[in-house]
This record gives sequence, C-alpha cells and structure tokens, in this order.
Amino acid sequence: MIPRKKIIAGNWKMNKTQAEARVLVADILQDIGRFDDAEIVLCPPFTALAAVSELLSPVSNVRLGAQNMHEAASGAYTGEISASMLRELYVRYVIIGHSERRQYFHEDNATVNRKTKAALAAELRPIICIGETLPEREANKWKNVLETQLIDGLVGFTDKELADIIFAYEPVWAIGTGKTATGAQAQEAHQWIRQILGKRFSPTAAEKVRIQYGGSVKPENAKELLSMPDIDGALVGGASLDSRGFTAIIKNACLE
Ligand code: PGA
Repeated sequence: MIPRKKIIAGNWKMNKTQAEARVLVADILQDIGRFDDAEIVLCPPFTALAAVSELLSPVSNVRLGAQNMHEAASGAYTGEISASMLRELYVRYVIIGHSERRQYFHEDNATVNRKTKAALAAELRPIICIGETLPEREANKWKNVLETQLIDGLVGFTDKELADIIFAYEPVWAIGTGKTATGAQAQEAHQWIRQILGKRFSPTAAEKVRIQYGGSVKPENAKELLSMPDIDGALVGGASLDSRGFTAIIKNACLE
C-alpha cells in the first residue's frame, strides 16, 4: 500500500476580517506547535490571504489555500481573482467546485474542469469538491452523481496532473448541518471515488491520490472518520473557525 500523508484543510468561508484572521492564525500556530504528521492548509477569504501569508513561515507544514479562483489569466471579469494573483501571495492550494459555489453561483462540472486546468497551469494544487445532495443519497443515486462529477470534472487530465489534485468528498447533506456521514458511509464513498479514478487513470495513480472527507467534521468525529483506510484528511468548515477545535481535529485525527 502506498502511504498517503494526511491533509487537513480549514475552509473559513465568508468569515474573518484581516484582524480576526491574524488572531486565529496566531492561536492555531501556538496550539499546534511543531506538527509534521499531517499537512495543514488554511483557506481564509481573499481579503485575509495576505495577512495570513505573512504569518506562515515558508518551511512550515501549515500552508495557504484560497476558496475559489477564476479560470482566466486576466481580463474583464469584475469581482474575480486569478491564479497568478493567488500565487503572488504564496497560496499553494485552491478549493474548486465547493457545493456552495455549485449551489449559489451555478458552477458545474465544466466550470470545475476549466478552473482545475487553470490552477494546475499556475502550479496551484486544486482541492476538487464533489458530493451528493440528500435527495440523491435517498434515491440511491450517489454513486452515479460522484462518477459524473469526477469524469466530467477531469476531462483531459493525465496521471501526472492527477498527482497534484486533492479531492474532497463532501456529502451536501452533511455540510453545516451537524449531520455527519458515519465512518462506514464515508469509507464506502471514498472507496468508490478511488475505484472510479483507478479506471479513468492508472490504478497506481488512484492509489496515491488523497481524498478528504468534509461535512460537519468536529473533534468528536474526526478520529473515526480519519481512521478509515481511504480517508486521507478532512475539509473542515465551521469547526476550523476556532483554533482549539481545529487543532483538536488535527491531533485527534493524526495521532495514534
Ligand atoms: P462544515 O463545512 O464543516 O461546516 O460542515 C464543510 C465545508 O463546507 O467544507
């Protein structure tokens, strides 16, 4: 089995001013100390990226991520942010196709494909979010939904590109609702995702890919979820806004 380093990301969504972000990051860095057992990614809103970037050391295991980007290199796209603007702030990761972007901003699998292409071209590592809604889960359509999201989102990519992509399985019914998938449910979905990737790409490339779980991850459920063989990390929303909670998730999930 190929070992996969766990990756825990905090998605702050539309929360934290620059001043609040500085306080949160200082607290996280203090609580976490030197911690090399997992990669940690902080995804503040665009307006706090520079402030957070200044607090992170280039050699630290804590990295900077953005929550979104536009696929064009530059131009007349009022209100949008390009990959090179993120790179200038030492951003290394970018969340693509979060369910809130899909739901409120009409992003679809073709958008995800274009943004992922642009992110990779700029040497940003995309965290591609996929996941089914409650009606899709209840109608037992989740496998088809995940397959379509993956196949359509990854059109044109090779094994080499897959190696730089991270996936986040986020069942929409578990995001911000307090409802979490059980370890067994999440493992079943992650295994399915890896199986699809193994058919679309090479089995070795699929074996190396890291797949995060997201949706109401908390200190209390992190260990069960992250002890599953195909769960390689977490994308944490609400609980990442509190340093104690976020660092407890990291420690619970990654320390034996
Ligand atoms: P949540 O959000 O942890 O608040 O459910 C997760 C996410 O949307 O990435």
